[in-house]
Amino acid sequence: IVIYVPRDAAALAMDADAVASGIERIADQRGLSVQVVRNGSRGLLWLEPLVEIATPQGRVAYGPVQPEDVAGLFDAGWLAGGDHALRLGLTEEIPYLKHQERLTFARVGVTDPLSLQDYAAHGGLQGLKRALAMEPAQIVDEMVASGLRGRGGAAFPTGIKWKTVAAAAASQKYIVCNADEGDSGTFADRLLMEGDPYVLIEGMTIAGLAVGATYGYIYVRSEYPQAIDALEAAIARARGVGWLGDDVHGSGRRFDLEVRVGAGAYICGEETSLLESIEGKRGVVRAKPPLPAVSGLFGKPTVINNVISLATVPIILAKGAAYYRDYGVGRSHGTLPFQLAGNLKHGGLVEKAFGLTLRDLLYGFGGGSASGRPLRAVQVGGPLGAYLPESQWDVPLDYEAYIQISAMIGHGGLVAFDDTVDMARMARYAMEFCAIESCGKCTPCRIGSTRGMETIDKIAAGGPDREQQVHLLRDLCDTMLGGSLCALGGMAPYPVLSALNHFPQDFGIESSQPA
Ligand code: NAI
Ligand code: SF4
Repeated sequence: IVIYVPRDAAALAMDADAVASGIERIADQRGLSVQVVRNGSRGLLWLEPLVEIATPQGRVAYGPVQPEDVAGLFDAGWLAGGDHALRLGLTEEIPYLKHQERLTFARVGVTDPLSLQDYAAHGGLQGLKRALAMEPAQIVDEMVASGLRGRGGAAFPTGIKWKTVAAAAASQKYIVCNADEGDSGTFADRLLMEGDPYVLIEGMTIAGLAVGATYGYIYVRSEYPQAIDALEAAIARARGVGWLGDDVHGSGRRFDLEVRVGAGAYICGEETSLLESIEGKRGVVRAKPPLPAVSGLFGKPTVINNVISLATVPIILAKGAAYYRDYGVGRSHGTLPFQLAGNLKHGGLVEKAFGLTLRDLLYGFGGGSASGRPLRAVQVGGPLGAYLPESQWDVPLDYEAYIQISAMIGHGGLVAFDDTVDMARMARYAMEFCAIESCGKCTPCRIGSTRGMETIDKIAAGGPDREQQVHLLRDLCDTMLGGSLCALGGMAPYPVLSALNHFPQDFGIESSQPA
């Protein structure tokens, strides 16, 4: 009997290793034959460790399982799907999972992340096989037609980026995967790398074939040791079966890649700093142009995409551009893995087509606040994203609709706060974050963020010149928005301005409309 116990970092944090060894020990004591498979996480994080038993009816889930529950679960006959207080029923029927549209995450939590057989048995390598039979330009056209836009947050069309690299003449080109997932409240890249590393490798191989790049780098943050291990092991196995190397699956084409580990700087998630870091230099932002697509890593044309963008490539190639494009709304095609975090009952990963609303995510999936108090504000798109008040929770999650309300979907992370939140403190935190993480290259960000903190402190302290300080803060935000070299300084004003506009009472002012 196969028992799945996630090895994902979230499950490990909740004692999954002790649960796995407890299962093996008790099965051994009772003379039962079980095989424990360490899968990725299904993304239902409040239920971790979520243990699944493979039964003839399908996989039956139990969770959250603690080491002390294991003996009782055996007593309850869980190997046959027996009843128990922790029994959640058939995994696929759990509403949180059932109501998702898992395309990029189709295999995450389902397969053994390092098993190549499992990968192939669940649809893996179909995209690469098709790509190997296509002309490079056809692959690029397929990506353009799919409508996929950069899932790292900026939403630039992936196919167009590839077209630029494909058109650049150079002796060497590179594929770089940005896995420096630094935004607070985001974890989709990590879940994917730990739960299905081959899909990322497949996406990067296809990108290499499409643009004529023969080498790739996955730049992973050092805070993700399990993801690094999973990728290293998967790359070694892929090399072992002739997938990576001088002769990709016997095609005569070359592609290989390696993992590079960051050292903890948020700014190294900005693409040009990331390239500097791979080159062995300090992570400082480069001025653009030239774009990395033209002059990137070591001055060569470089495709640099986020984990989720690259991991979505295989399904697009396998099922065709139209299949993917049909999901979503407007110019936001396909699905996005939303990440539910903060004060929510049911935090986790929800992959859905664009077009649903924040309210659907917060209540339909998230189950409302964990504290039981009313939700008040939601930050969408990481620490540089806007805070949305309830009046905006029915706006469809669509890149363009969000721009209309001065917000951004970004990497799809959302952090919820209940009515105890002090939005002036959150605004100050945005400036503080920017001050700590600034690379220091440009003045609006380097100096402005510190002045921003001071100004918010003055506003919070009250005093007769409060209105004037608010005015000053708006001016400063304007300078940072327009004058910063990269998105760190350029976007830090979003949380600040949204807090001021939607929650003026937290700053001790009645209303704060732009002057
Ligand atoms: P950007 O809009 O400058 O560029 C987006 C991408 O398109 C870049 O790769 C750029 O090189 C490429 N590009 C632009 N024009 C091109 C052209 N004509 N041909 C080929 N490629 C072209 O945005 P940026 O500064 O790269 O990213 C900012 C975003 O990053 C923010 O919107 C934010 O959501 C996101 N972000 C994500 C984080 C995470 O942890 N995932 C952390 C911080 C920010
Ligand atoms: Fe560096 Fe900040 Fe300027 Fe970006 S905005 S280049 S992080 S100083």
